[in-house]
Amino acid sequence: MDLQALHHALLAPPAQLGVIADLQAIRPQFHLHLQQTVPSTNTVLWDLIDQGAPVGTAVIAEQQDTGRGQWGRTWQSALGGLYLSLYLEPDKPAIESNTITLASAWGITMALQQLGLPIGIKWPNDLVFNGLKLGGILTETRFNQGKLSQTVIGVGLNWNNPVPESGITLRRVLQHHPIVSLSTLEQLAAIVLYGIIQGYWVWQQKGITDLIERYEQVLVNLGQVVKIDGHLGNVVGVSTTGSLRIRLDSDKLGDEIAEICLKPGEISLGYGM
Ligand code: BTN
Repeated sequence: MDLQALHHALLAPPAQLGVIADLQAIRPQFHLHLQQTVPSTNTVLWDLIDQGAPVGTAVIAEQQDTGRGQWGRTWQSALGGLYLSLYLEPDKPAIESNTITLASAWGITMALQQLGLPIGIKWPNDLVFNGLKLGGILTETRFNQGKLSQTVIGVGLNWNNPVPESGITLRRVLQHHPIVSLSTLEQLAAIVLYGIIQGYWVWQQKGITDLIERYEQVLVNLGQVVKIDGHLGNVVGVSTTGSLRIRLDSDKLGDEIAEICLKPGEISLGYGM
């Protein structure tokens, strides 16, 4: 990863960065820190924030020794992948804290779709291609007086790194859907940084209902059949707090059609759908 090449990639025309029409005029200021090997880009970024780093600071590493995934898992972070964290200061009530992850997932997915790649979201925050995991997001937040005050959005995206059987790299996806303006890790980093910002912009400016409507349009789980405590149900959407909405099969519950909401972590939707 080369800093000059990354600065250059960030100056590409917005359409080449997958930026949606509403946002083509924005040019966010990023403060970039490129590193070779770090424990976790999220941890390095929190240290920088504690030392006074401004909003828009981003840490990008070539490898992570102890990359962190959702639910306390390890994120394998070998050379060839994208490991990136961005610092933002949302002005939102604490109850919306789960939705920043949805906003980021939507923004990055949308950017890749705008470029012609059929990428979708597996709830809550996995980027997928053909049912295989392309990347994930780990958001960490701090609160102040009941409001979200600081957030670190950490993105791991498979570019050209080894992946498990349930995963895929973007380089493989590009073999089937080539894109002229996406051939380097620096270009991918620029697309992801702009992608996070566009999701964040929709969340902040248009509001949570608008964001969720857009999110549901790229959600691969809509209609998926799930089993909860022995009852069958269907995924019907996502609530404004980021929970998964499931409509339970009425046959199993008499005449009533019951809908339940599950928080991230309360159900796993699995891979290989
Ligand atoms: C997931 O489990 O799907 C989320 C993975 C998030 C990994 C990224 S890599 C950059 C940032 N630093 C970390 O330690 N984790 C996130």
